[in-house]
Amino acid sequence: MKAIDLTDEHRQLYFVCLEDWSEEMKEAGNHKEIWYNKMKDKGLRVKLAIDENEQVGGMIEYMPIEYAFVQSSDHYFINCIWVHGYKKGRGNFQKRGMGKALLKAAEEDVKALGAKGMVAWGISLPFWMKASWFKKHGYKKVDSNKGMVLLWKPFSSDAVPPKWIKKKYIPELTPGKVTVTCFFNGQCPAYNIVHERAKKAAKEFGDKIIFHTINTNDKEIMHRYGEKDSLYIETKKVTKGPPLSYKKIKRGMAKRVNK
Ligand SMILES: CC(C)(COP(=O)(O)OP(=O)(O)OC[C@H]1O[C@@H](n2cnc3c(N)ncnc32)[C@H](O)[C@@H]1OP(=O)(O)O)[C@@H](O)C(=O)NCCC(=O)NCCS
Repeated sequence: MKAIDLTDEHRQLYFVCLEDWSEEMKEAGNHKEIWYNKMKDKGLRVKLAIDENEQVGGMIEYMPIEYAFVQSSDHYFINCIWVHGYKKGRGNFQKRGMGKALLKAAEEDVKALGAKGMVAWGISLPFWMKASWFKKHGYKKVDSNKGMVLLWKPFSSDAVPPKWIKKKYIPELTPGKVTVTCFFNGQCPAYNIVHERAKKAAKEFGDKIIFHTINTNDKEIMHRYGEKDSLYIETKKVTKGPPLSYKKIKRGMAKRVNK
């Protein structure tokens, strides 16, 4: 098993988080590809884990922290580490050391690039992207926002700990209408799915809903709103973890429309 840089051959597979078998992934559209094409010359790095049969089982994506939803500089930020864990498609590659190997390869890479440290996110609960997994690999919790933990591994004695960008968004509502606001930047296919579902669901309510998309692929915008990936129905933030189903999004909208 080894970690390799992303190749042209595997690019489409990376755009769908290695889930080329998933019907749900098709709902994500081409936002990831657009985001990748913007970021590839800005220091974005992607590595894949390949097993002894040359099968891709995992991926890690990291970039200069200056582009992340974090207040920090001179570090790299792990947007995503994912070892395919479903039985479907390519199968379950977890618990074979791929995660550990990808993290090690990424850390060595950014050290060689002169970064002062690596920063990651995780959640405090024991599922999805667990903060505890990074802790096991020497990362320390430096900040937290409603269960979203920011973790840090400094490589240099003068490295300054990072902080989350603070939430500031207060939705502007239009009287007599329901306002739905979707923040997204294309990086995460899970949120791209939420964006597409929300857009489609909002259409079902015609002019009763005003739908806003705010693209957060810009640090100034992230700072202004204090948001990166989220969906608001009126003043309520409805995204809190893995992607919401179309049914749940539509139900949330219907509740407000019928009020
Ligand atoms: C976190 C994650 C990357 C770890 O991947 P992994 O390849 O399973 O990780 P590791 O290499 O660290 O191995 C995990 C466990 O398998 C064990 N293991 C490693 N190699 C092994 C082997 N050859 N045989 C048996 N066990 C092994 C490790 O000791 C470790 O055990 P522990 O959990 O008791 O410490 C993976 O679980 C994952 O992708 N989770 C979901 C994250 C997610 O949602 N990402 C998307 C974010 S948007």
